[in-house]
Amino acid sequence: MSEVKKIEKNILKLISSSKSLDELEKIRVDALGKKGIVSNLLKSIGSMNEKERKVKASLFNSLKDKIIQNIEKKKNLIYENIINEKISTEWLDLTRPTRPDNRGKIHPISQVTEEIIEIFSDLGFSIAEGPQIESDWYNFDALNIPPEHPARQEFDTFYVKNNSDIIAEPNVLRTHTSPVQIRHMEKKNGVPCRIIVPGKVFRSDYDQTHTPMFNQLEGLAIDTDINMSHLKWTLEEFCRAFFDIDNVSLRFRSSHFPFTEPSAEVDIRCSWVDGLLKLGQGDNWLEILGSGMVHPNVLNACNVDPEKYQGFAFGMGIDRLAMLKYGIPDLRSFFESDFRWLDHYGFDPLNKPSIHNGL
Ligand code: DAH
Repeated sequence: MSEVKKIEKNILKLISSSKSLDELEKIRVDALGKKGIVSNLLKSIGSMNEKERKVKASLFNSLKDKIIQNIEKKKNLIYENIINEKISTEWLDLTRPTRPDNRGKIHPISQVTEEIIEIFSDLGFSIAEGPQIESDWYNFDALNIPPEHPARQEFDTFYVKNNSDIIAEPNVLRTHTSPVQIRHMEKKNGVPCRIIVPGKVFRSDYDQTHTPMFNQLEGLAIDTDINMSHLKWTLEEFCRAFFDIDNVSLRFRSSHFPFTEPSAEVDIRCSWVDGLLKLGQGDNWLEILGSGMVHPNVLNACNVDPEKYQGFAFGMGIDRLAMLKYGIPDLRSFFESDFRWLDHYGFDPLNKPSIHNGL
């Protein structure tokens, strides 16, 4: 038997009797590694004469190929054995409880904001936004609340330190979402419009129904032919859809806001039975929002001609609506980041109520 045949027989025998991947790897290195026996044979080709080289080169290369193929085959066999071994020794206990479901919950404010947006989108309103740090001008003056107006004191405003006396400089945390009315109307092509403005607002107040930060939703519809009946219809439609009651009954109670004339606070008919609030029935009324026809001074402040355009506006507390709809008793709990509370009052992201899925 030739020397090469002997080497081949020997290596193939080693491969076939090897038991592990490590062992196999060692055989490969001994044969084909840098200083491996077959590598050395291949290197020796360089010093051969042409005739000898022709014969030996093909001999050595086919030896190399054979070894590689055999190692591959054996490797697959070992893998298979490892898997078979696992299958026969490992087992699955189907009676064990599943892993805990750690899916997060959607916060009631996010949920309610989305519900409100869905309803007003269906009514043709789009969303507008504005900054949370505002100037006196946008938060008060442009909304017909001049510095001497008593309404300024009612707002419990947070002031931001500012080195200038200019009223257009940002210096308050906005006390309501109404300044976004101004920011929208003063834009080029700002009117006609139908917008809603969900957002955070700030007032220095804290008890069961007040927190220093809360969420409001502003509404504004401006056109050449808008009157109070459009406001009434819009709010009734909204309440019908939001509270999911067919016989919604609203009361428009004459009120005063500097930015609307006439102004109305809107109450919803309700009953309290055994401490349980039911909307749409009974002899009680619950205030849910403020509204009115936009004051001509507000339109003027935005360079909108009040002779040509008019419209309605309204403002409601998103948190308050969430409390009413989902029976949440304390406003402060919304902002305490208590997981147990969120787990109880939050919504399953894959199964949440929506006017479009009828839940
Ligand atoms: N901005 C008022 C507030 O925060 C709410 C409000 C009342 C907004 C009447 C309006 C409106 O747009 O017309 O108390």
